[in-house]
Amino acid sequence: MSSPVLQAHDVALYYGGVRALNGVDLELHRGSICGLIGPNGAGKSTVIDAITGRSAIARGQIILDGADITSLDVVERRQRGLSRSFQRTSIFEGMTVRRQIELASWKTGVEDWSADADAIIQELNLADLSDVLAGELGYGEQRRLDLALALTGRPKVLLLDEPMAGLSAKESHDLARHLQALTSMWDVSVLLVEHDMDVVFGICNSVVVFELGRVIAKGLPAEVRADPRVRTAYLGSAA
Ligand SMILES: Nc1ncnc2c1ncn2[C@@H]1O[C@H](COP(=O)(O)OP(=O)(O)OP(=O)(O)O)[C@@H](O)[C@H]1O
Ligand SMILES: [Mg+2]
Repeated sequence: MSSPVLQAHDVALYYGGVRALNGVDLELHRGSICGLIGPNGAGKSTVIDAITGRSAIARGQIILDGADITSLDVVERRQRGLSRSFQRTSIFEGMTVRRQIELASWKTGVEDWSADADAIIQELNLADLSDVLAGELGYGEQRRLDLALALTGRPKVLLLDEPMAGLSAKESHDLARHLQALTSMWDVSVLLVEHDMDVVFGICNSVVVFELGRVIAKGLPAEVRADPRVRTAYLGSAA
């Protein structure tokens, strides 16, 4: 297998006295989608915050494309190609879809932000909506805009925090197809936090399972699904 595009080594993170991450090791392989699952409060969003530099880690290293980025701040990591979406949408309601994507692209420092925005609008089927104010979009369309914003500047790695939450079955299926196309055609690698097991086991190349701030299992989807500890801790009868 190719060398990982993203690695987290032995990451620990505390919120005051609460140990939210406890020695987490993760690898994301190039051009792949890795699912990150686990019960509420397991530390999934926190690990994204740790990787992107939004929350300071107490121990460990973050390696992007072979370079140690642990001492870089959020903006520097984004410029190096580490991008994310939030569990709650982060759009500006009073700005058009196109303007917002252009602005996000410009902020990443790419030279041709207009061409970057065009390519993303095309890829995510947002052309018909490009002059619409973000506040007027339906919920599913807002989530697609969120993904568009995260894709600006051609990131190497996308960390997505429950991008399918609240979507209809059809919208989530469409979003899953967009993600698969992005990994193959744009060479983006995706870490996908997701509660919908059909999505996770349908599109992920590997799966990592969190519980209480630790990795309790990882591997190929079929291996993880069959792991007795995972079934007990999380999947239950859904497995
Ligand atoms: N800002 C914060 N301050 C203090 N504790 C926090 C903070 N954010 C998260 N926590 C705690 O850290 C732990 C991990 O939370 P986190 O949000 O990462 O879980 P999660 O796996 O993303 O859960 P969910 O599936 O509900 O989104 C939980 O115990 C949570 O209560
Ligand atoms: Mg979360």
